[in-house]
Amino acid sequence: MNAADNTAEAWEAAYLRFETPEQEIAKFTRRLVRLGAREWPRDAAVAELFCGRGNGVRALARLGFHRLEGVDVSQRLLALCPPEHGRHCADCRALPFASASQDILMVQGGLHHLAVLPDDLERVLKEAARVLRPGGRLVVVEPWPTPFLSVVHAACRQPWLRRIFHKLDALAEMIEGERHTYEQWLRQPEVVLRCLEANFETERKFTGWGKLMWVGRRGGAEVISN
Ligand SMILES: C[S@@+](CC[C@H](N)C(=O)[O-])C[C@H]1O[C@@H](n2cnc3c(N)ncnc32)[C@H](O)[C@@H]1O
Repeated sequence: MNAADNTAEAWEAAYLRFETPEQEIAKFTRRLVRLGAREWPRDAAVAELFCGRGNGVRALARLGFHRLEGVDVSQRLLALCPPEHGRHCADCRALPFASASQDILMVQGGLHHLAVLPDDLERVLKEAARVLRPGGRLVVVEPWPTPFLSVVHAACRQPWLRRIFHKLDALAEMIEGERHTYEQWLRQPEVVLRCLEANFETERKFTGWGKLMWVGRRGGAEVISN
């Protein structure tokens, strides 16, 4: 195993112990409701991008959505996703879906893993616009530089707090493993918003408690795949 595999495995171990599956599903369900999911048609084709171990897919299933798929680059995490839904091992910069085939795309905590900003973000957003039907929704939940996040970062620097709060310790380890892309993301909120708003029409936007929660609609014109 090389150094990159070791880092990925250590990051995944911290991600898996950050919250229990039930805690994560409850968190994702609350977010989905806040973002308007109860108003979305239950027969919508929904894909969770950067789906990790698939608890976002499970939350969508509990809300009654049934045409569900997940995409992630990690085969290890995909193996933990619910097998009754589609699972795709792929890089979200090149989505494994036909043009105009999806109604809703979800991203929770995936975009801040992209290596190059804004280029990789633009690639994902162009792909999202290609695979969404006109009027389809892109839903994004990502870390955001709010005062609360600064407090969390300060807490992560305190070893004694990490010893007491295991969730904080797991978070600190994840941040350590993704530090370059995480900091690059948090340094450029204006660039991120400009990219989102250039590709989609904003339907909802909240920032607070260290998160951006955003829903954009794809415009009406057809996007030709290349
Ligand atoms: C912070 S996790 C979020 C997972 C899940 N959305 C959640 O909230 O539990 C980020 C995920 O993005 C995946 N990932 C990173 N870069 C990717 C890429 N270019 N394409 C697809 N998945 C990627 C990682 O394997 C990881 O599972």
